[in-house]
Amino acid sequence: MGRSTLVRLAHSDHPIASPLSDARVDDLLRRAVGGRASVLDLGCGDGTWLLRALRQHPGLTAVGVDTSDVGFEQTLAQAADAGVADRLTLVQGDAREYAGDAPFDAVLSVGAAYAFGGLAPTLDAARGHLAADGLLLLGDCFWPAPPTQAVLDGLGGASADEYLDLPGTVDLVTRHGWATVHGHVSTQEEWDDYEWAWTGAPARWAVENPDHPEAREVLAEVEKHRDGWLHGYRGGLGFVTLLLHPGRAAVAGG
Ligand SMILES: C[S@@+](CC[C@H](N)C(=O)[O-])C[C@H]1O[C@@H](n2cnc3c(N)ncnc32)[C@H](O)[C@@H]1O
Repeated sequence: MGRSTLVRLAHSDHPIASPLSDARVDDLLRRAVGGRASVLDLGCGDGTWLLRALRQHPGLTAVGVDTSDVGFEQTLAQAADAGVADRLTLVQGDAREYAGDAPFDAVLSVGAAYAFGGLAPTLDAARGHLAADGLLLLGDCFWPAPPTQAVLDGLGGASADEYLDLPGTVDLVTRHGWATVHGHVSTQEEWDDYEWAWTGAPARWAVENPDHPEAREVLAEVEKHRDGWLHGYRGGLGFVTLLLHPGRAAVAGG
């Protein structure tokens, strides 16, 4: 089975590939890009964050970078329908190597810190793309409590040092010279909505297309994922989205 089939199906009911509600996404975007001219999304998924930003903020231009172009075509078609396609560029490539058009007024990186090797290198990469008075919207997982073996197993063999706890996450950001100007911790409802959508939409597709050559594998994959969630990390994995300004050191020194 092509991974792209599963990804496309998994996000069909929840295009934002992070545990955030639509209302919260709109609120975070308003805070991050409202009144700004340019935004870069590192690990943009199918570009849905940017499409929403462009619809709501007429003065904005947006660039998204992702190794996968799954969903790009659909998002660009939606952008054309909305009359914002001339302000949207989606680039298939490695966000660690993206070198275009700096500096941006805002950078998004939500759920993609793993691509950079963790939080600290993600902060460094974002700083390289950001204007001095820009804003970074950063979303990443954290441990709400020390992870049990079931949580680690549910995440496919994660290690306990993969994430920090919530205070440790914010402390790391602060140590790296960023001021936290807003934050949101995903609720259990947001997590559940995300996981039910992620697992439910492909399961529905599989049972409605039993003769499709990928149906059996899609169903097996999402049931394995759902087991890892329900028997493992449900309630044991947090997600925080922070709005960060790069200029803390100018105020606090260091
Ligand atoms: C959890 S998804 C989040 C997508 C999007 N930010 C969202 O919230 O809807 C993580 C994304 O990071 C992308 N990714 C992983 N490694 C990457 C890399 N080296 N460069 C660019 N994107 C990468 C994946 O393809 C995936 O789309």
